[in-house]
Amino acid sequence: MQEELKQIETEALAELKTVGDLSDLESLRIKYFGRKGLLSTVMRGMGKLSKAERPVIGKLANEVRTSLTEAFNGVERTLNQQAREGQLAAEAVDITLPGRLPRLGKKHPVTQTFDRIQEIFRGMGFQVAEGPEVEHEYYNFDALNTPAEHPARDAHDTFYITDSLLLRTHTSPVQIRYMEKQRPPIRIIVPGRVYRCDSDASHTPMFHQVEGLLVAEQVTFSELKGVLYAFVQQMFGEGTRTRFRPHFFPFTEPSAEVDISCTTCHGGGCRLCSGTGWLEILGAGSVHPNVFRYVDYDPEQFTGFAFGMGVDRIATLKYGIPDLRLMFDNDMRFAQQF
Ligand code: PHE
Repeated sequence: MQEELKQIETEALAELKTVGDLSDLESLRIKYFGRKGLLSTVMRGMGKLSKAERPVIGKLANEVRTSLTEAFNGVERTLNQQAREGQLAAEAVDITLPGRLPRLGKKHPVTQTFDRIQEIFRGMGFQVAEGPEVEHEYYNFDALNTPAEHPARDAHDTFYITDSLLLRTHTSPVQIRYMEKQRPPIRIIVPGRVYRCDSDASHTPMFHQVEGLLVAEQVTFSELKGVLYAFVQQMFGEGTRTRFRPHFFPFTEPSAEVDISCTTCHGGGCRLCSGTGWLEILGAGSVHPNVFRYVDYDPEQFTGFAFGMGVDRIATLKYGIPDLRLMFDNDMRFAQQF
């Protein structure tokens, strides 16, 4: 029996060395210490021993039990510590990693152009005014000296909502709305969305304009030229040339279209300017006396000028965008280039 106990101890210690985790250890514990385990089985055999042998074997059995228990506990401590270390290593956070930067958005090229136009005109003392996009025929046409059946209405491809309500085709109706409420002197710009039933590489059904209106006593056409010249220099760079071409608008007289020297070829002729060296950017003129009559201003006392420019068109020219429709596709690859 002595031999048996010694052998159990040796084997148990040898097996302990091969234990890899806590569940292995538990199985081994059952194998030796369980109710039907090897140690218990041997101990149960003690009853058959003689009186003389019993204390000797009993002592040895206790020694073996104690030493094995200690060995098992030692292995358990080691395994627990390893498990804890493994967990700590797995859950470690590397605080030296750089953080993730939020992606910065950018302003749409049309917004950037609006901002720049407003900045330039604010610098010349203009204030910003606004008006509704759903407009009465009266403000969009009649009060702008464009009565029903006037041929100029055809050119506007108007979206009608009812017989007399429409989506404004230009920002000019805000001239009337503003003058109805204010007396001269007036110096405003009007940024806003406008609508025309038209769509190709250089037209979209919705686009943006900035209107300008200046009314006071003794305002002349040369002041219009001066203001627009100053605008062009700041918007497109010093040395950009301007050209006034005679034109017709019902609400201005005389009227002009204003061209700038081509932003790409600087006048030599290229595809952007269709070989002409010039790019049209706005319409303008002296306020027609009939427009003043609609808002109860005395045309003998007040004179003024107005202009209207296409913001999207100016943006495409400034940034060299080949197709106006790209502006409104909401493609991030496009928007991020500006
Ligand atoms: N409203 C005109 C257009 O949309 C532009 C314009 C504004 C012309 C003011 C003259 C004066 O074409």
